[in-house]
Amino acid sequence: MADLSTRLAGFTLANPVIAASCEFTMTEEGIRQCVDAGASAVVAKSVNESPDAAKQLDIADYTLLDAGLNPVTWDATTGDETLFSQSGLAQSTVDDWLAMLESAQGYARTQGSMVIGSVTVAGAEGAANLARLMAEVVPAVEINVGAPHGREAAAVSQLTGADAVEHYVRTIRAATGVPLIVKLPGQSGDIIGMAEAAANHGADVVAMIGRLNGFVPNLQTWQPELRSWGAVGGPWMLPVSLYWVSKCRKALGDRFPLIGTNGARDGLDVARFLLSGANAVELATALLTRGPEAIRTTIHDLTSYLDQHGMPALGELIGASVRQAKTYGELAPVDPPHRPWEQFLR
Ligand SMILES: Cc1cc2nc3c(=O)[nH]c(=O)nc-3n(C[C@H](O)[C@H](O)[C@H](O)COP(=O)(O)O)c2cc1C
Repeated sequence: MADLSTRLAGFTLANPVIAASCEFTMTEEGIRQCVDAGASAVVAKSVNESPDAAKQLDIADYTLLDAGLNPVTWDATTGDETLFSQSGLAQSTVDDWLAMLESAQGYARTQGSMVIGSVTVAGAEGAANLARLMAEVVPAVEINVGAPHGREAAAVSQLTGADAVEHYVRTIRAATGVPLIVKLPGQSGDIIGMAEAAANHGADVVAMIGRLNGFVPNLQTWQPELRSWGAVGGPWMLPVSLYWVSKCRKALGDRFPLIGTNGARDGLDVARFLLSGANAVELATALLTRGPEAIRTTIHDLTSYLDQHGMPALGELIGASVRQAKTYGELAPVDPPHRPWEQFLR
């Protein structure tokens, strides 16, 4: 059976499947279930220093949409739906949250997994303070600087430029020595510049890309789904996420650790992220819609994929498609030209 281990900054993960920060990882029970399902790491639900960000969770709602943007009930999911949602941050005192992280990490360690603390930023100083406290109880911290809800709620900041990323990463890096993962938004004109700023100013790992903002009118009621705006992601987003991972793999070189997120449904999508240059992949939607079983099957299917290709380990896969990608300028003309729509021309 293939060895799925993968190296990220100062630590080695047993496999590349990470349970992403989301409502499922908001309790010790949820984190333990992800660990039991085989997640090599679990990113706990985010917190930040603003009480309003936690309060935001009270208005949060979640709906699944099929390819025609029709709501689908949770028990009818095929795994291909879009999850359209609001969200908020964990509602806990700092002391209670740290105690939960410590206890969950104690369990994860016994199972060869780990818990990663998470801050979805408001201010840089607040994030630095929380990262410092978390670093006392968990082995790594992830900082989300790009939550889409930052466009709707003042209690969360969405950074969209390299200078702002540099400022936040420098401030947080100065506060803690543990491996630091910086999670970037999908909504910026300069995602590569942001990744470079993170990598050059103290991030050990860059995760990308965050979900996008969306708006979905219901055709029967004319009400907007979720009564408002929300965040969207799903399989349709996967090529976009792979694009940015592959471009950042080229920009940052072969050695800088990257985590892919946004759009992975299963083990084959994880393989697609790895081929695009990710060292590991974070899954949230699959976890929220199919439970920890989604993690188990993702790891199983990735193992089968590697076995079918006679690969003893992951290493060769990581970035393999990026290394073969040509620039538009390097492409030879398609001969004969491929114009399938000409069948419709009269
Ligand atoms: C309901 C929901 C809540 C989320 N909460 C957080 C969060 O608190 N912190 C964070 O960094 N990312 C959060 N995310 C983003 C996920 O961690 C993940 O990066 C994103 O959903 C893309 O991956 P996916 O396609 O597997 O869902 C959340 C996503 C969803 C759907």
